[in-house]
Formats: sequence, C-alpha cells, structure tokens
Amino acid sequence: MKTPLLQYGDLPDMLVQQLEAEWGLINARTTPHDILAGDGSLITCLVTNGETCIDAPLMDRLPGLNHIAVFGVGYDQLDIAAACARNIAVSHTPGVLTDDVADMALGLMLACGRHIVGAQKFIEAGRWATARYPLTRGFSGARLGIIGMGRIGEAIAERASALKMTIGFFDPGARPPHRWQPHDTLTALASASDILMVCVPGGESTHKLVDKHVLTALGPDGLLINISRGSVVDETALIYALDNQLIAGAGLDVFADEPQVPPALYGRNNVVITPHMASATWQTRRAMSQLVVANIRAGHAGEPLVTPVAQSSRYLVQKMLRPG
Ligand code: 8YV
Repeated sequence: MKTPLLQYGDLPDMLVQQLEAEWGLINARTTPHDILAGDGSLITCLVTNGETCIDAPLMDRLPGLNHIAVFGVGYDQLDIAAACARNIAVSHTPGVLTDDVADMALGLMLACGRHIVGAQKFIEAGRWATARYPLTRGFSGARLGIIGMGRIGEAIAERASALKMTIGFFDPGARPPHRWQPHDTLTALASASDILMVCVPGGESTHKLVDKHVLTALGPDGLLINISRGSVVDETALIYALDNQLIAGAGLDVFADEPQVPPALYGRNNVVITPHMASATWQTRRAMSQLVVANIRAGHAGEPLVTPVAQSSRYLVQKMLRPG
C-alpha cells in the first residue's frame, strides 16, 4: 500500500496533481479530520514550500516522518536543526530556478532605475501631451554590489557584466579566487555600490542584515534590489530611507510579512514591487516540481536524495556573515 504524502503549505497545481496521482496527498489545511492528531505516524514524507513554518512541534506530531521535500531553494522557515536531530532528511530545489531569479533581479533593477512603472502611469494619466517624464538613471558603468555570491549571485553578476556594470560582492563564505571584487564588510560594499542586490539566504543569521547603516552607506543615488527574503532587509529602515531620500529607490520581490506589503511602499515612482514571483515561470515551476518528485522517489526507494540540503556549509557561511 502506498503511504500518502502530507502537503503542508501552498504548492502549484501541476505538482499537487502529480503527487496525488503517484502517492496520494493529504493537505494539512483542508483535510476535515485532524490527520496529525490521529494517524500522524503514517506520514513519512512532508512536502512544503520555502515560506511555510515547519517547526519541531510539527515534526513531533509526525513520528514516522523521514523526509521533508521543499519546493524552493530557500528553507529558512524550516527548523533544520530539529530535522537533523530527528534524522529527517531535507531536500530542496537549487539550480533550476537560478536563471529566472537572476532575470527578475535585473528586471527589477532596470524597472526601478528607469522608472518603467512610473512612466507607464504617466502615459495612462494622460500627462505625456503636456509634460516630459523626468530623466532616469543609466546602468552602463554603474557599480553593482551583490550580497551573497552563491548560484543566484553569480548568475546576476554574469548578466550585469553584460550590461557593462562593475561587480563587487560581500560573501565571507565565497571560495576564492573569484572573478568579482570582494569587500570585507557589508557597509564597505554598500559604500562602493550604486546598486545593492540582496542574494543571501533568509534565516536568523541574516535577519535585518540590510539595516539603516547599510542603507545610509548605499547613499542617496543608490538602489536596493531584493529577490531573496524580506527578512534580510529592515523594512522600517528602508521606508525611512525612501521617505528621507537616503537612497534613490528600491525593487522588491520579497517582503518581511508576505503577503502583506507595507502600504508605505505603494505609489512611488522609484519603487517597484512584485509578489514573490522571481521563480514563477512555467518552465521553472515545472523543473522545480520535477525535482521535488525526483527527491521523493529517491527517498521512497531508500536512495540518496537528488538535491539534499547542504546544511553544514550553509551554517558556516551564516556564522561568518554574523558571528556569535
Ligand atoms: C518560491 C523561493 O517562490 O525558491 C525559493 O526559495 O522563494 C521561490 O522560488 C517558493 O519557494 C515557492 O513557494
């Protein structure tokens, strides 16, 4: 008999349908009876997304759990130490979303600096006949600072160098030698950048890493772009910096309390906001779904997971980012 999987958090329909067909799926949110209170020991595999909290008490309600499959590269809402302590393997979906996320980062950067959204609103408000849209900023020769030179950071750097930007980064965990210019501290990177790009994973160690000091160092001509996790940026400090022209603008795909977005970020020509959609293309969501399925098949067959979480290396990087 096949043991059904437990779905915990939103997943795309294409994945849900496949999981249902292959194993059967119990949705923790819509199941009428409390499967967790009753038959929790039946569940061996839980499927979740990168944003849903999976904590130790939940794991304890599922004593048969041996695999958590994350649909997403980020897993900062999952208590990885608790999973390790209970011998629960964790897989995620790195690699397949890198290019789309990097494309979106560049799209946000260009849209923000060139005021593409504000310029469209200008036309729609019928203002073109009587006015000219203000000048915007160019990117060739501008300095891009990348926080976190992992797969996505690298892909962004490649694209930005094609735009003739110069590239610096801050990532104490990046392996030298590196093609781009390293900086010893985050504020040093921010001071040396026209655009600051957040690519570091979310989680406790990077919580509000981009704070008022970093934003002040970025300066009144600087743009902040975030395609990583909202938790990495101090949103209150960001809104203060925008209100007081301490920075020039922001392009944000992620927010601290999704799906809530602070209304203070609405209606600004120098701010572009999107609803956490950097990996949301048909192609990438299909590839992510396939990778989740491949991991679950491997787990069920007792084989090594295809893309297990590399917990130890990530822990080390985060320790270096914010020691102590
Ligand atoms: C997804 C993401 O939107 O991979 C990640 O870490 O944030 C995105 O690709 C998300 O995980 C799907 O819920």
